[in-house]
Amino acid sequence: MLRRLHHEQPDSFAFTPLNKKWAEGQMTKFPEGRQASAVIPLLWRAQEQEGWVSKPALETVADMLGMDYIRVLEVATFYFMFQLQPVGSVAHIQVCGTTSCMICGAEDLIGVCKEKIAKQPHAISADGKFSWEEVECLGACTNAPMVQIGKDFYEDLTTARFAEIIEEFAAGKVPTPGPQNGRYAAEPLGGATALVDYEAGKVKYNASVALADGIGDTVKRIQGDEVPILTPWLNSGTGKAAKAAKPKAAAKPKAAAKAPSAAVKTKAEAAESKAKPKAKAPAKAAEAATSATDTPVAEKKPRTMAAPRKAGADNLKLIKGVGPKLEETLNDMGFYHFDQISKWSAAEIAWVDTRLKFKGRIERDGWIEQATILAAGGETEFSKKSTK
Ligand code: FES
Repeated sequence: MLRRLHHEQPDSFAFTPLNKKWAEGQMTKFPEGRQASAVIPLLWRAQEQEGWVSKPALETVADMLGMDYIRVLEVATFYFMFQLQPVGSVAHIQVCGTTSCMICGAEDLIGVCKEKIAKQPHAISADGKFSWEEVECLGACTNAPMVQIGKDFYEDLTTARFAEIIEEFAAGKVPTPGPQNGRYAAEPLGGATALVDYEAGKVKYNASVALADGIGDTVKRIQGDEVPILTPWLNSGTGKAAKAAKPKAAAKPKAAAKAPSAAVKTKAEAAESKAKPKAKAPAKAAEAATSATDTPVAEKKPRTMAAPRKAGADNLKLIKGVGPKLEETLNDMGFYHFDQISKWSAAEIAWVDTRLKFKGRIERDGWIEQATILAAGGETEFSKKSTK
């Protein structure tokens, strides 16, 4: 269907004071400079006020939103919800004529429109109160056949009920929208065959809502044995169900819980243990030790050194991903040489990873591979560039 501005247009358009206030309120929902996002609500409100969207209404909306007129025209002509010609003063009826509705009697509803309103779609009834058109699927197929009037759906219609609805509108009443055959929503016509516990009032929520309610936090979800999916290493969560599960001592990584006797206590460790209350450290360590795939990895402290060897520390900045700050941190932790880093096992990587600010970077940047090459006197692409 060709959608263009009507050949007869009013001289002007202005929102009523209340609608203007509402429209200005809508505009504040969007960040400065993005007011165009309010174009559909404003056009819709203009249509609710006047029954259809006229050229002056389009221009008023465009001016309010700082948009080119053509942009607003594009929106109004694209969406069939916007009427571009005058409609009935009481109601414009949109009859769904797509498959489900057609099979269930849409053509008979159109027959009612032709009989009670006008022979042609978009023509206004003799009393000026109604107009109608056929539209594509309105998404209420399980309640076919249906019509949309204003912003409301009237579903499960028969020709008799539809004719009554038009008469009620004509008499100044507002018929109750929704299914017109007694259905609550879109349940089977013969009554519910599933979710009968809900029907009987035995359960309060459906399964998804019940799960969210049980956790007490809709952002997290639980796996089989009460382990929140997002924090499996903690074996506890913040919700009701997770609290009931009681975290086990296993949540504490062993390496973090007891210091290896042979290891040298570095400056970084000393500072760390001073700064943090002991009880909180294991949880923090465990959290950081988790790999990018959320698989828990046991931590093990690598061998550290109190000072670099006599020849001096290696330039750890030759490892891609290690900047001056990180090199200092590594030195403070007791790492000065490429060969130290090249020997880190997965558990040792987890231990170091815990103490760095960017979890996962050791594996992501391939420190071990780089350190192995550099320790053997070789060069990496990155070290070549760095030493140029
Ligand atoms: Fe009519 Fe979908 S076919 S609402």
